Amino acid sequence: MVDAARPDEHAIERAAACLRSGGLVAFPTETVYGLGAHALDREAVRRLFEVKERPAHDPLIVHVAGLADVAPLTAGVPQVASTLAARFWPGPLTLVLRRAPIVPPEVTAGLDTVAIRVPAHPVARALLLAARIPVAAPSANLFSRPSPTRASHVMDDLAGRIDMVVDAGATGVGVESTVLDLTTDPPTVLRPGAVSVEDLRCVLPDVRLREAPRGQVLPSPGLLEQHYAPRTPLTLYRGEAGAVLTALRREAETARAGGRRVGVLGTRETVAALHATAAAVADLGPETDAGQVASRLYAALRELDAAGLDAILAADVAHDHGLWRAVRDRLQRASTEVIRVS
Ligand code: TXA
Ligand code: MG
Repeated sequence: MVDAARPDEHAIERAAACLRSGGLVAFPTETVYGLGAHALDREAVRRLFEVKERPAHDPLIVHVAGLADVAPLTAGVPQVASTLAARFWPGPLTLVLRRAPIVPPEVTAGLDTVAIRVPAHPVARALLLAARIPVAAPSANLFSRPSPTRASHVMDDLAGRIDMVVDAGATGVGVESTVLDLTTDPPTVLRPGAVSVEDLRCVLPDVRLREAPRGQVLPSPGLLEQHYAPRTPLTLYRGEAGAVLTALRREAETARAGGRRVGVLGTRETVAALHATAAAVADLGPETDAGQVASRLYAALRELDAAGLDAILAADVAHDHGLWRAVRDRLQRASTEVIRVS
């Protein structure tokens, strides 16, 4: 365990040395825990895919200490990247740029682009500064499970498979970085995340959001539909708040009468009325607080998943702006079914 704000130098140096020599080290970022590997070490990157059981066609994000470290990994840093970096780095924004040949194809899944970000968490920053190498780091979960927001989540999925976990407590943001493709014109948001589309529009008025066709999710590599998902089937209820609550209550009552154990997940206002009916309740926090809801989401999914339930019923969030967009996106991807109620 290291102090999240002022991590112990020796612990960081040990983790950095482990990364430099090809080891796999889980560490906190401001979004979720990442599983790091030396990005220019093909063997380390191959092992990373193996331990996560991640398909090779899903490219990784390369983490660096600052904008100066980006140029060697790319075929050129466009002005817009520098402008965005000045505004949002260090922070939860990932930029997709043209790849330099030095980046192994294992990292980019054979694409001619590479995703790069400069994380803001003091532990991630200290580690990258000490390691002095680019670090490829996907979220430190088994493929398709919810991303880890605590070191214990990393251990639940990967204990015995990786070399080290730097534990600095819970991460702050709770959902992953925004992935922005700068190789398209106009630039495209491939994954909504902690930097909102509204924030990006201040710098890039014409930024495009890759909207999933109805009932489907993004066709980009790695942006698979069933992702971030608990093992227990999750049904997402979408629609007017009153109608969603009615549907959840009815489903929960029917399940209880039939001897099935269901859990419900939603904002405080939604789940408040369901404590007596559902076998388990995950309260994500007040509907006015997107930050709290985002930071609790993945832990809540994992808790319900561990509760031995037959099904999870989730209420979609009511908003679609700012951080809510990322929360809605992750809820949709966690679901096996989306039901519209009115
Ligand atoms: O917040 C985050 O981004 C966390 C922390 C650890 O930094 N990392 C993370 O990594 O979420 P991962 O591997 O779980 O998600 C990476 C996403 C995938 O959806 C992948 O498809 C996309 O980034 N990506 C990576 N390289 C890409 C590329 N060259 N072109 C398009 N998408 C890319
Ligand atoms: Mg992931």
